[in-house]
Amino acid sequence: MGIPVIQSTAAGPARATTRPGTDQKTETPVRPEVNGLIDRYQRLATDLRVSLTDRCNLRCTYCMPAEGLPWLPKDRLLTDDEIVRLVRVAVQKLGVTGVRFTGGEPLIRPGLPAIVAAAARLDPRPKLSLTTNGIGLARLAGTLRDAGLDRVNVSLDTIDPDRFTALTRRDRLSDVLAGLASAADAGLTPVKINSVLMRGVNDQDAPDLLRFALAHGYELRFIEQMPLDAQHGWDRASMVTATEILAALKAEFTLLPDPVERGGAPAETWLVDGFTALDGRPARVGVIGSVTRPFCGDCDRTRLTADGQVRACLFATEESDLREALRSGADDEELAGRWRTAMWGKRAGHDIDDPTFLQPARPMSAIGG
Ligand code: GTP
Ligand code: 5AD
Ligand code: SF4
Repeated sequence: MGIPVIQSTAAGPARATTRPGTDQKTETPVRPEVNGLIDRYQRLATDLRVSLTDRCNLRCTYCMPAEGLPWLPKDRLLTDDEIVRLVRVAVQKLGVTGVRFTGGEPLIRPGLPAIVAAAARLDPRPKLSLTTNGIGLARLAGTLRDAGLDRVNVSLDTIDPDRFTALTRRDRLSDVLAGLASAADAGLTPVKINSVLMRGVNDQDAPDLLRFALAHGYELRFIEQMPLDAQHGWDRASMVTATEILAALKAEFTLLPDPVERGGAPAETWLVDGFTALDGRPARVGVIGSVTRPFCGDCDRTRLTADGQVRACLFATEESDLREALRSGADDEELAGRWRTAMWGKRAGHDIDDPTFLQPARPMSAIGG
């Protein structure tokens, strides 16, 4: 068995080169005997997203109710050592090359710096990134950089203090702005900002957010809201679309085609004429059109929840339990085998527009962004 050859240009999406055979009797595709996380649509997952906690210190209205959610009980959460072990299995046995730590809010997990440090010591060393709401980053950016973190994405949906407080139900805008600045000072670049626009709430903020990002050298991306909220309040008709976001930006900025190929990245990007980023490269702005411009065909992701479940997709309705396997003594090869089986079952796409679409039982905050 070998990790399948990754057929890609530097920027192209990872592809499995091994094509599945077919079981003669059942006519179902048979998984080829390879190490990597292939699925039956020739995708190869090399990007692992690890949710470190389902808790958060904000209460964004499009994500959670004001009172929070029933959090995962402590005994079901993976310990720091268990997380590191599964990351090691993913990197050394399954061909994962990048690890992103998410939440809930990953900065509230005390063991984060130690987990990052352990992941950075792996051979081969994966690229390490973090998706955070930025609260606490002012204090931790240097520590995380020293531990081996490469870069951060910070969620920020408005720079208007009142709208920030209304949207997140917390008065913490200044903490987020300080966190962004510290991330840039610590060299966790490119510092990216994720913004979700909600109609009638912050949909007027797109140009101001871009002006702010350009002034500081951050890379801004707008995300179409997805049906992953705990309250099940998502409404396709009122979602702010990628097309609308681009029209609002183009009214005030000149966007040029980005010569860099997109590969498996969720964001479609443009260069913003006349501006440069922190690293001196041309400034970019991105749109993640998960709903109206899905990118599932190029998906290279696999996910691990804070309670040790592998999810093949954000929208998966099935999970594969590695926690119980691990706690009942499974060795690394068995864990790797379970992970491979889980990813082989990955569906072609999220089917949000299909009338039979079912929102997954777990909300975004418990899956990881
Ligand atoms: P980089 O561009 O490499 O920094 O990664 P990224 O865009 O994947 O990072 P991030 O974690 O910041 O993700 C940004 C947003 O993209 C998430 O909050 C989701 O809304 C969306 N997203 C991330 N992964 C997926 C995915 O697998 N499927 C879909 N549909 N959306 C995703
Ligand atoms: N749709 C799109 N993005 C979402 N996020 C949280 N919930 C949703 C949703 N329903 C984003 C956050 C953050 C990232 C982790 O995911 O704004 O940027
Ligand atoms: Fe990948 Fe699923 Fe996201 Fe599509 S919705 S990009 S398949 S994780």
